[in-house]
Formats: sequence, C-alpha cells, structure tokens
Amino acid sequence: MRPSIAFTRKYAFFALLILVFAGSTGSFLRFGLAYGMPAGWGEFHNIIHAHSHTMFGWTVLALMTIIWRRLPAYTGKPLPKSVRWQMLATFVFSFLQLFAFWPNGYGVTRIGSAQMPLGAMSAGFAGLTWFWFMSLYWRATRGMATTPTPVRMWNWAIVLLFIASMGAMAEPGLIAMKIESDFVKHLFLHLFLDLFTTGWLLLAAFGAIAAYLEDRKPLEKLPSVKLLALFILPTFLLGMPPDYLPVWLFWIASLANLAVAAMVAMHLYRFYQRREDLPLLVTFGLLGLLVQIGSAALMIVPGVWAWGAGALRIFYLHDMLLLWTSSALLGLLIAEFGNRKNVWQSWSEWLWIIGVGVMWLALLLGGFVQWLPFSGRTLLAVAAWASVIIVAGAIVALKSFLPFSHRA
Ligand code: HEM
Repeated sequence: MRPSIAFTRKYAFFALLILVFAGSTGSFLRFGLAYGMPAGWGEFHNIIHAHSHTMFGWTVLALMTIIWRRLPAYTGKPLPKSVRWQMLATFVFSFLQLFAFWPNGYGVTRIGSAQMPLGAMSAGFAGLTWFWFMSLYWRATRGMATTPTPVRMWNWAIVLLFIASMGAMAEPGLIAMKIESDFVKHLFLHLFLDLFTTGWLLLAAFGAIAAYLEDRKPLEKLPSVKLLALFILPTFLLGMPPDYLPVWLFWIASLANLAVAAMVAMHLYRFYQRREDLPLLVTFGLLGLLVQIGSAALMIVPGVWAWGAGALRIFYLHDMLLLWTSSALLGLLIAEFGNRKNVWQSWSEWLWIIGVGVMWLALLLGGFVQWLPFSGRTLLAVAAWASVIIVAGAIVALKSFLPFSHRA
C-alpha cells in the first residue's frame, strides 16, 4: 500500500488525540501535586503509569505516521498491506493503557469474578505492536540499493527500540524467574526508559527532521549515525539511581554520554543552520537538546549527577520527552500533513510554546528551590496552570487534521 493523505491525517489526528488525553492526565497530576489529589480519583502512582505509558503511545504513533508516509518514496515500493492493521492496533493499545493503568497500575483489577493485571496486559499488547512495526519496517526496507540519511537514522533508531523493548519485556520474565535484585530491576527499567527516550526517540526524530529538510535541499555532512547509536547504548546506566551504580560503570556511561553530546551538538548545529526551513515548533524543540548537551558536561563534575538524579529527574525527562521530542513531532505533523490555511495553527503553536516554556522553567527552578525566594508550592502551581495551556494548544492543533480526506 501507499499511505493516502487521508490515512496519514487520520493517524496524525489519533496520535494527537492520545497526546490530549495523556496530557490532560499529566495536568491532573500536576494539580494533584500543587493542591492535593481529590479523593476517589485514584492513586497518584497508578495514574503516573497511565500518563507515561500513554504518552509513549503518542510519540510512537506520531513517528510511525511520519515514517510510513515517507518510506515508499525511499524504497520505491509499496508498504506491506498489514501496515493498516498494525497502525490500528498501535493506536488502540496505546490508548487503552490510559484506562487500564488508571485503577490499579501494575496491580490486578477485578472484573466480575476474574482478577487481571490490566495495565501490564495493555502495555504488553502495545509493545507487541511495536515488534510488529519493526518487522514490517524490516520487510519494507530490505534490499535497498542505497540508504538515504533519514532511512539510516530510522534503521538505527529501530535497533535501539528493539533493545529498549527487550528491557520492557524483561519485567514479566524477572517476576517469573523470581529475581528480586533491585540492581537487575533498575537495570532493565532504565534499559527501556532511557534507551527509548535518548535512543529510539532521538534518532527517529532526527530522521524525520532530516527527511523534512532534505525535501528542500540536501543536508550538510552529519556525524555517523551508527557511531552515535553505539555510544548511546551504555548511557542508559546514567538513569539508574546513583546508589546502585558502581563508579567504574558510571565513568563508562559518562564518557559515552559526552561523545553522544558532541554528536548531538553537531546535528543541532546542522539543523539550526537550516532554521529558515524548519517549522517553528521544531526549532523550539531543539532548545531541549541544549539541556542534554549541557548536562552531559555537568554530570562529570563530582556530586552533580547524584544530586541531579534526585532533584531534576522529572525536569530532565520532560525536557527530552515534552520540550524536545513532542514539540518537534507536533511541528512536523502540522507542517507536513496539517491544513494549509489554518487560522488556528499559530494559536496552537503559541499556546504550546508558552505552556511548555513556562512548565519547563517551573520544573527546572523546582530543583533549586531551596536557594530561591519563593516556595516549591508556588512553582508546582505555576507548572499546573502552564500544563492547562499545553493541553489547550494540543486541542486546538487537532483542528489541523480535519477533515481527514484533504488538506483544507
Ligand atoms: C502536558 C504535558 C505533560 C504534563 C502536564 C506531565 C505531567 C507529569 C507529572 C505530573 C508527572 C509526575 C511527576 C512526579 O512524580 O513528580 C509526570 C511523569 C512522567 N511523565 Fe509527564 N507530563 C507531560 C508530558 C509528558 C510527555 C510528552 C511524556 C512522554 C512522551 C511524559 C512522560 C512522563 C514520564 C516517563 C514520567 C515519569 C514516570 C515515572 O516516574 O516513572 N510526560 N508527568
């Protein structure tokens, strides 16, 4: 099949719909942190699982939409027919996670006389659709005579997604094998979380940006993506709680992280050189990468990593997942498949920029609150209200993809 514009716009819309729901859940949590959780609405930790798993669904579906749309032009052949079913399954199971995790997180939920781990089941099914995507991608790209830059980036992104997914799939294996070691549990958790974020999402979004830019003019020389992917591999260790990581492993991961930062900086520079061609939200998202580069350098200062892992963990995660990845993906989706004469487009973009910018700043300052003249509660309230603006931006952006049939 060759994905029609209607197919592409439909999945861009669905991806954004997931962002709206997962973002509203995140916003609900932010209000819970600032003003207390309302009674009867569920446990904070279960809702975090609902939020984070569903959010991963947004990024995955957005990237798949872009990759499937562009791939036939590079391979010169239609996509496998089952891409249609794979996309539907990825959408359905990504979305279901919100409702499956909310009541009991990874615990069991009673349905009639049965007890089922609904969250783990929905995450397992969502993960299976990623494997399905990987195998279809492999079929679609097999035997290409030359590999253009975006495809090279996606190839390596998918290798890292595969390794990260193994980390996610290890969870039930550890339970079955009765492995209780906290070190091993954290190792696999961060193999998934960190390689997904700074591996798959980073390289796949680079590929999507490269494809967008190369449509207009070839990109100047970029560092080897294979080398970048290999250096990314050990960096997931830096996501582990500091108490669990031996010093020698910390140094291996930190040095690899410095090499990654240098190569990311070179990509950033090349993209920034082409800023006139980039959608506004992609340029905005690039700011998030500056944090990754800066923190790689700061982390080797004694004590900074251990302090930051506690005080700035949520800030760093949202810098990479919200400011960088989500802004870049939203910008690309709107620019590539959104309506052309949409008066609401700049509303959605500016609401997004203001909301994400203010929440980002509030989370950053939250790490330094003991030295600041205002309370942590004030910053939590600012982050909560900013999150409403982000969700409003995402809701307005939904209009960019209606009607599905053509770009109005
Ligand atoms: C509207 C934007 C967002 C809001 C309001 C939001 C809000 C939150 C909140 C309140 C938490 C819990 C913080 C804490 O424990 O102190 C959280 C955690 C998290 N969020 Fe978000 N978030 C947003 C966007 C995203 C995006 C785009 C992603 C991924 C693509 C994401 C992934 C995560 C992850 C992985 C965690 C941590 C889960 C853990 O601790 O295991 N969030 N978010």
